[in-house]
Amino acid sequence: PRAPMIAPSILSADFADLGAEARAVAGSDWLHVDVMDAHFVPNLTLGLPVVESLLAATDIPLDCHLMIDDPGRWAPPYAAAGAHNVTFHAEATDDPRAVARDIRAAGAKAGLAIKPGTDLEPYLEILRDVDTLLVMSVEPGFGGQSFIAGVLSKVRTVRNLVDAGELSVLVEIDGGINADTIERAAEAGVDCFVAGSAVYRAQDPGRAVAALREQAAA
Ligand code: DX5
Ligand code: ZN
Repeated sequence: PRAPMIAPSILSADFADLGAEARAVAGSDWLHVDVMDAHFVPNLTLGLPVVESLLAATDIPLDCHLMIDDPGRWAPPYAAAGAHNVTFHAEATDDPRAVARDIRAAGAKAGLAIKPGTDLEPYLEILRDVDTLLVMSVEPGFGGQSFIAGVLSKVRTVRNLVDAGELSVLVEIDGGINADTIERAAEAGVDCFVAGSAVYRAQDPGRAVAALREQAAA
């Protein structure tokens, strides 16, 4: 069986103390960093300077989720700075293949994200040219929303293609993942689970990561 990966989202962390918040989840596989531009989504978070500071503050590989317009222009610098994974939205570009190519050329893994209402079918071919598919299970923009279980059919489709050897993409899910929802997502075939409020609103974020990982592996 696949070893489940857990990626705490710092969107629910204390932005004035991100170094400590990263240390609190030291056992995590990735640290998920939500970049929002107040255009692609109706919220504003952080950008490259904060990512650069985080890179210096933690050894956890950074999983940058860019919820921004014009990723062709803005995504490659995150890769060049040293992010492990740079994920952009399919809905934000006409040429996802070019964006993925440029991210890889700048030294990171490339991820394609799709919103809950976005069909998978038009992007199946492009999945050959990215490393990660991020399936959004809430509308992007805010933490603490409820899990949309309907997106799991997209997870199952990709899982089947990967298990059949037709694709080699890693399947990540983002939004509303907690103790009540992670088992359903695991069953559908998710590899990597993003969790914001379930980790950083917990008394002990490190223990919350371990508990989610155990649940996902069960
Ligand atoms: C939402 C972000 C998520 C968010 C998830 O747009 O992409 O990464 O942090 O938060 P929770 O886990 O609380 O739904
Ligand atoms: Zn995210």
